[in-house]
Amino acid sequence: MSVPVPGLGLPTPAAKSGYVSRMFGSIAGHYDLMNRLMTAGMDRGWRRAAVRALAPVPGSLILDVGTGTGDFLDLLAERDCRAVGTDFSLPMMLAGRARRAADGRAAPLLAGDALALPFADQSFDGLLNGFLLRNVADLDRALSELRRVLKPGAAAVCLEITWPRAPIFRQAFGLYFGRLVPLVGRAISGDPEAYSYLPRSVAAFVTAPELAERMRTAGFREVTYRTLALGTVAIHRGVR
Ligand SMILES: C[S@@+](CC[C@H](N)C(=O)[O-])C[C@H]1O[C@@H](n2cnc3c(N)ncnc32)[C@H](O)[C@@H]1O
Repeated sequence: MSVPVPGLGLPTPAAKSGYVSRMFGSIAGHYDLMNRLMTAGMDRGWRRAAVRALAPVPGSLILDVGTGTGDFLDLLAERDCRAVGTDFSLPMMLAGRARRAADGRAAPLLAGDALALPFADQSFDGLLNGFLLRNVADLDRALSELRRVLKPGAAAVCLEITWPRAPIFRQAFGLYFGRLVPLVGRAISGDPEAYSYLPRSVAAFVTAPELAERMRTAGFREVTYRTLALGTVAIHRGVR
């Protein structure tokens, strides 16, 4: 089977948050290396494209939801933003904090669930998330939370992997992502489960046009998106 069957082998919605948090906790020490290997380093360019789509002004207060090891925080610091990261996996945030401390950088990090963000309404001038949304147990609730913490007129940018639509490339992507990546991930992380969850979660996630529609339903306006990397990555933007 080269293309995972949507939903097959995935945790139930009720079990998903615990499963995802444990899984990222177990691979936190290898996460950055695996990202660079899987994407041949392209993930950095995708995050830069997401930050450009947000276009934050210096001094603005920007939230990175599902910050993980905090790659967005570094890019926001380069733009002189006041960046805050939140995630429900402490090992992921701690791995990123250690790396940033070694480079003499720091950013505020808060433990938090994207389904119930620990921030007041209308707190942020902008918000980002990278490779978060396919992991949440309730996409509509997460989108509504993202919108809730934004100031009126502020934008959210969502970066996510999407399964490509073009028939032949779709199969090739399935072989790479569904077969090779889990093998390499298992060899590097020692976790047999983590990198086989990854292609299954992408296969089960909504398409880019569907995500745009769900953002509109959550109350975002001016929703746009673009795809990168032959349709395997999408950047969505919406305004509160
Ligand atoms: C694939 S990693 C992405 C990390 C980082 N954003 C990046 O670009 O590399 C997904 C992150 O989202 C976090 N996450 C997943 N579901 C979450 C939720 N409901 N609330 C908070 N964090 C969540 C995971 O713990 C993990 O650190």
